[in-house]
Amino acid sequence: MTSDPARLWAAAGVLGLWLILLAWIVWRARRKTAPVGPTGGDVVLIAHASQTGVGEALAEMTAQSLHDAGIAVRLIAFSTLDAETLKSARRALLIVATTGEGDAPDSAAGFVRRVMKDGPDLSGLSYGLLALGDRAYDQFCGFGRSIDHWLRAARAAPLFDPVEVDNGDAGAIRHWQHAVGQALGAAAGPDWTPPAYEVWRLTQRTLANPGSPGGEAWRLTLEPTGALPVWSAGDIAEIGPPGEPAPAAREYSVASIPSDGRVELLVRLMRHPDGRPGLASGWLTHDLPLGGEVPMRLRANRAFHGPAAATPMILIGNGTGLAGLRAHLKARAADPAQAG
Ligand SMILES: Cc1cc2nc3c(=O)[nH]c(=O)nc-3n(C[C@H](O)[C@H](O)[C@H](O)COP(=O)(O)O)c2cc1C
Repeated sequence: MTSDPARLWAAAGVLGLWLILLAWIVWRARRKTAPVGPTGGDVVLIAHASQTGVGEALAEMTAQSLHDAGIAVRLIAFSTLDAETLKSARRALLIVATTGEGDAPDSAAGFVRRVMKDGPDLSGLSYGLLALGDRAYDQFCGFGRSIDHWLRAARAAPLFDPVEVDNGDAGAIRHWQHAVGQALGAAAGPDWTPPAYEVWRLTQRTLANPGSPGGEAWRLTLEPTGALPVWSAGDIAEIGPPGEPAPAAREYSVASIPSDGRVELLVRLMRHPDGRPGLASGWLTHDLPLGGEVPMRLRANRAFHGPAAATPMILIGNGTGLAGLRAHLKARAADPAQAG
């Protein structure tokens, strides 16, 4: 067995891609209806530009999960995508791989030539972007990033920050699944690739906003039952709430840094319209006893890592959105080499 980190990462990436394809095969076998054509009304357009099939598989899984949530979808390849289709769509999800040296997949070559050379007005369009790539290449997610720049220049509005997937990273794909569900109001289905959780314990829980007119926000402290993992300010905790079949993981920004020796979270108690507490937030903030076990995994969130140490930062946020900013402040305060 090798101990070369580069080879281990490559193997992990291949395993990740394989898991996605496996999940897709299982998904396909289970699905009852193929959501491919326009169904009228408020249809979500899903377009894929894929060279070796991973993006296409993820587009099908995205389409199927929205369809299962009662949302009408239209699934097409970039080879049939044009400016008119984008203009007439109110919401679009674009799943694009990069090939060559930062190039578009073959199925999107015509789109680059015919559509991207113009500057259409897409101000009526909101979009989510899943960019597939591999950091081993110089132009990481090169085509996904140029699509994103082009859409912003055309005045389309992002539904959420683009999700970039490095070599099939399952955590980033779960993040896409959650971001799409939240942005389009689809209830969370089971994770396509469930996380490998570790066991943590809840050691403290305090209400952070007593008397606030907003929903309860709780400060939670969790300690590992094994070794403390390493993480960076900006990273995400994925938590598996109890239930059968296993509910989708929930994501929370980590509010502490490794030298604290524990993970701290800020969790808002969510409520359904009928007043029932949310499955995960109700469990974490009320039902889970102190000392209780929490399945949790920490996931790198590179898009939210801080800049180089010498670069000053201005952090703006509120509510439970302060959690990740608190980790950044702590990281700066703990490192005397950092400027401010
Ligand atoms: C020949 C080749 C060239 C690639 N070039 C890039 C690249 O320039 N930048 C990048 O981020 N990823 C690159 N990748 C990685 C792919 O984007 C990544 O494996 C992606 O998951 C493929 O998705 P697809 O199966 O939908 O085409 C390349 C992969 C191959 C096989």
